[in-house]
Amino acid sequence: MPVATAVAHPNIALCKYWGKRDRPLNLPSVGSLSLTLAPFSTTTTVEWGAERDELVFNGRPASAEEARKVFAVCDLVDSWRPRVRVASDNDFPTAAGLASSSSGFAALVLAATAAAGHPRTVEQLSVMARRGSGSASRSIFGGWAEWKLGERDDGMDSYAFEIAPVDHWDVRMLVAIFDAGPKGVSSRDGMLRTQETSPFYPAWVASAPRDLAEARAAIRDRDLLALGRVMERSALRMHASMMAADPPVLYWKSGSVWAQECVRSLRDQGVPCAWTMDAGPNVKVLVEAAHADVVAERLARVADQVHILHPGGPARLVP
Ligand code: DP6
Repeated sequence: MPVATAVAHPNIALCKYWGKRDRPLNLPSVGSLSLTLAPFSTTTTVEWGAERDELVFNGRPASAEEARKVFAVCDLVDSWRPRVRVASDNDFPTAAGLASSSSGFAALVLAATAAAGHPRTVEQLSVMARRGSGSASRSIFGGWAEWKLGERDDGMDSYAFEIAPVDHWDVRMLVAIFDAGPKGVSSRDGMLRTQETSPFYPAWVASAPRDLAEARAAIRDRDLLALGRVMERSALRMHASMMAADPPVLYWKSGSVWAQECVRSLRDQGVPCAWTMDAGPNVKVLVEAAHADVVAERLARVADQVHILHPGGPARLVP
């Protein structure tokens, strides 16, 4: 029975994806830009040809909803596929705003196409990963990646590409964990509610292209303060749009605000660093490697845990 295993790293968006222009194809309303991060990873094994479709997630049978999404992506690999067994393991907390779906679907499409004997280009892999979860389109790539908005109705031009390689800039992303449990509102439901009910949503969409242009330039120039301004602006505008939804989507906890203040005060003291937040209370802080320890030490005074991540490589097959 053909079997393949792939490893992928999660990514954290510096310019955020929030909102869809097409739900079935999972096409975004805005372009987005991210950093792929190691050592956190997902390892996924696909057996192409099994007695029944089976998904084992972190050693346990998956929920019906998780299984539906995973087997729908397997159908994209081959609509006449045999039954498959998928086993996927994360070495970090799942569904805690740490982008576990990004590494999960990136590893899945790579393992499934290899097991099926249907190798694909990285653009095709990124399109398939996007159908599973938008942010996964970016985890096909290592280092700094941008997911293009695209123009086509069929979504074939909405995929990610590498804008700078993994060794372009020696930075760290610190993840300050305030709550490692699963989130109350999924990103998918939160973004849908935002686009359907938030009066701020059109302004969020209109503001995204400028953020992307400035972020690309700041990454090219390795200018952390310039990138930080864009990162914090993008995160705040995304969260402002969801807080204005009805009912509101609010992921922040008191620790989240404390961590933001901590970053601002470190910056005032001359340590270049900037924060971002996703669909959860945890705060991620970007800093050059030389300053990572001092920032981690400060965050550790209040966060439950602080992880220090570094730029990671692309999704890859493993023996
Ligand atoms: C806040 O990629 O999880 O992390 O496409 O519905 O699966 P779906 O959403 P998902 O949303 C990620 C939202 C975000 C921002 C980002 O990663 O760009």
